[in-house]
Amino acid sequence: MNERFQMDLPIPETKNRELEEYEGIAENVLGKALKELGGHYGDHEWYHARRPEIHPNSVRFIVGIDDMSRGGKLEEALRKYWHEIVPKVEAKVQEVGIGTRRGVQDTILYLEGVTVSFDGFKALNDLSFYVLEGELRALIGPNGAGKTTMMDVITGKTRPDTGKVFFKRSIDLTKFDETKIANMGIGRKFQKPTVFDNLSVFENLELALIGNRGVLDSLIFKLTGEQRDQIDDMMETIALTEHRDKLAGSLAHGQRQWLEIGMLRMQDPELLLVDEPVAGMSGAETEQTVQLLTKIAKTHAVVVVEHDMDFVYALNCRVTVLVEGTVLAEGSMDKVKNDERVIEAYLGR
Ligand SMILES: Nc1ncnc2c1ncn2[C@@H]1O[C@H](COP(=O)(O)OP(=O)(O)O)[C@@H](O)[C@H]1O
Ligand SMILES: [Mg+2]
Repeated sequence: MNERFQMDLPIPETKNRELEEYEGIAENVLGKALKELGGHYGDHEWYHARRPEIHPNSVRFIVGIDDMSRGGKLEEALRKYWHEIVPKVEAKVQEVGIGTRRGVQDTILYLEGVTVSFDGFKALNDLSFYVLEGELRALIGPNGAGKTTMMDVITGKTRPDTGKVFFKRSIDLTKFDETKIANMGIGRKFQKPTVFDNLSVFENLELALIGNRGVLDSLIFKLTGEQRDQIDDMMETIALTEHRDKLAGSLAHGQRQWLEIGMLRMQDPELLLVDEPVAGMSGAETEQTVQLLTKIAKTHAVVVVEHDMDFVYALNCRVTVLVEGTVLAEGSMDKVKNDERVIEAYLGR
């Protein structure tokens, strides 16, 4: 093989994770191209096919070749199969929720084929659900659809009978208990706030920040200037700066909810699960909550369960409709609210 055939083809904007996948895709394409020329992937009378090289934005095909006159045909075939297969791969990636307009991101949460039965009744039924890093996602569906059960599975409160539950691609959440999962970076806000009523707004946030030291230790513990700033920033974010010394027990309903979201956020979880945050809130409080969650979702993935459709609309994010323990529809609010099956099963006419 005296000659060296070399050709680069583009890989769509992607992260390292997908680049590995492109190795297999490139080999596949090379195999198809060589087959079209009457050979197969590997060595042949007239060529020696090297493993394709994966570069950050391209794949490089290198083939030792005895006679360059075949190069043109090889180039044509490679180009054809590459442009045929790559869009399909990307479409698949979109379909499972790995791609967004912002480019390809990592999945932070991955549930596949999850089933949970209670005395034979399937609260979750072959559920698949994917969330991206830094994504804001709304989860809606009728009572009993399995929304809370799904959160229980993610946080280790309930073990699935079958299915995969992965965090950050490699952490199998079914292997850990609630405390471990919380420490790994999954924060959960329950419907009922769990703030300390007889501590002030500042003290609640302080406790959340310094973690498990306990109330007594926190009296001795001295915050650094940086930690003070962090708490001040959070009070600003949750619109409670002017109430910093007020006892949590004397806050309005909406403010208590924000305080708890703030406390969760102080622990810096990579994924936040929020169950019905605006139940019982006034219109103005709901609006403020939209701002708060949108702001948090700039840096953290957030999954919000909510019944209030105006609120979900205002979140302006991808919506997953859960019905009878499985995903009925997914997409923008505009898309799902016009979906016949969603109207039938949930929204009504
Ligand atoms: N611990 C349990 N034991 C028995 N049934 C349960 C349990 N938890 C939930 N379920 C049932 O599973 C279904 C889904 O409940 P849930 O996840 O709370 O729905 P959602 O939060 O969407 O309203 C319901 O029919 C509920 O009665
Ligand atoms: Mg529920």
